[in-house]
Amino acid sequence: MSRASLGLLSLLVFLGGCGGDDDGGSESAKFPEKDWASEAAKLQEGPDWYRHALFYEVFVRSYQDSNGDGIGDLAGLTSKLDYLKELGIDAIWLMPIFPTPFKDSGYDISDYRGVNPDYGTLADFDALVAAAHERKIRVIMDLVLNHTSNQHAWFTESRSSKTNPKADWYVWSDTPSAPDNGCGTDSAVFGDSAWQLDPTRNQYYFHRFYPEQPDLNYENPEVVSATLDVARFWLDKGVDGFRCDVIGLLYESATECDLIPKTQAYIRELRKVVDEYPGRVLVAEPSNLTDATGYLGNGSDMFHMAFHFGYGYFWGFSFGGHDASAITDTFQKSLSQFPPGAQDALVIGSHDVPRAYSAAQGDDTRHRRAAAIQLSMKGTPFLYYGEELALRPGSEKVVDLRDYARTPMLWNADPGHGFTTGKPWLAFGQEADTFNVTAEDADPASMLSFYRDALALRRGRAVWGTGEMELLETGTKRVFAVYRSDDFMAYVSAVNMSEEAESVELTRPDLGSRAARVLGEGKLALRSGGGTLSLPGQGFGIFRVK
Ligand code: GLC
Ligand code: CA
Repeated sequence: MSRASLGLLSLLVFLGGCGGDDDGGSESAKFPEKDWASEAAKLQEGPDWYRHALFYEVFVRSYQDSNGDGIGDLAGLTSKLDYLKELGIDAIWLMPIFPTPFKDSGYDISDYRGVNPDYGTLADFDALVAAAHERKIRVIMDLVLNHTSNQHAWFTESRSSKTNPKADWYVWSDTPSAPDNGCGTDSAVFGDSAWQLDPTRNQYYFHRFYPEQPDLNYENPEVVSATLDVARFWLDKGVDGFRCDVIGLLYESATECDLIPKTQAYIRELRKVVDEYPGRVLVAEPSNLTDATGYLGNGSDMFHMAFHFGYGYFWGFSFGGHDASAITDTFQKSLSQFPPGAQDALVIGSHDVPRAYSAAQGDDTRHRRAAAIQLSMKGTPFLYYGEELALRPGSEKVVDLRDYARTPMLWNADPGHGFTTGKPWLAFGQEADTFNVTAEDADPASMLSFYRDALALRRGRAVWGTGEMELLETGTKRVFAVYRSDDFMAYVSAVNMSEEAESVELTRPDLGSRAARVLGEGKLALRSGGGTLSLPGQGFGIFRVK
């Protein structure tokens, strides 16, 4: 080859101008670029902001302690908003911050209109919301409506006699069962019987969760209006929406106990309240882990989003079995069943299940590959605090075993790990000196660096939140691949579930002719009629193709 043609060749390679070039580093030479930061800002100003947002679930008690009592608090969280902003977070979901006897980590609320004194005051809450909004970070709260704490004033009154004004605010029965509540509800989600004898009233009350969490009686219209007023109270304070706890369980009937028509009707009323406040959103915690369709109504009269637990809580098994079929199936299902406009809320962990680190069985690549799928699918990702560090589980239990996934955030390797100057309310998780924000920040190969890159990749690109999604045939259950596209951009995102290198043919005819890898490893060689995708063992690749 002549010097001139060699020169031309290297220029082409440098510019990434060869058709079918499939390596990284050449995206900007091959595809139109935009000012992604200002695109992101525009998306966050529009009515569909939540479809393009990145949410972050925070357990305030474990995030940042500001006064040395070992308990995370609202002022502490406020001081960490810049960290969240830099990570690319658009909205935070606060687990319950209300006064509580803490029998279920705050999901037992004793006053819906206050703030847990361990966490601060209503003024601290207002300051948090103001500081978040200043940084264009929205704040949603947990709305726990199925039950209260047994220390709530409503229950104190209700249990005091059979004739008091709130006697029917909870579900009471002379026997530890009730014909109207059939459908297996005589046993609780936590523990044995769902009926607890109250000695004062000498009757049993119904509790779907711990005995300290009596279920409210939604057959009583006063309960309906009192709980809708709780939503109004916080919307008036400026919150941007709610994550609705076990909302499918509000009403029971003789034959059904999950999301019966009366519960759906309540949800529509709640949506009307929320719609009185522009730009506010609702996300459902569905109790059916594999089908959330019933929560979404016609796409605009119930929830804006529902958690996709079919992926979020089960991906670990798919990776363990090196088999993507269950992942493909669960997304195929939501694709075909969702009403237009409804959105998956995509997780790989939460306060209720073992940490992503544990679900990945300590395999860092599994965690990354699981996140790559979470971040590639049509929907809104919700990160659980510490997931970005691959936070290890703890081994101390204050409330129940879920505490292993609720340990304090790790900011550095100091004795209090930057979380507290005192004794942490719950012992730190494992390997706290190695896996913390400061250490991972300094390491380009860390989980935090991976998340920074992966999250940056989504910013401002509307295609991830609202673009079309097509699951690609790869010819093997060992390779998962999805095609995402809108008018402006398209991506192929692929994950090798197995430990061996895989090379597969993608047969979709119009994937384009150019590919640039933007994250991960591997190659995608496109030609008319499809392409060849190669991924190393335990690898994933995200390729821009338009
Ligand atoms: C939801 C919460 C869980 C809580 C339960 C009862 O599932 O996520 O943490 O224990 O509801 O409120
Ligand atoms: Ca504190």
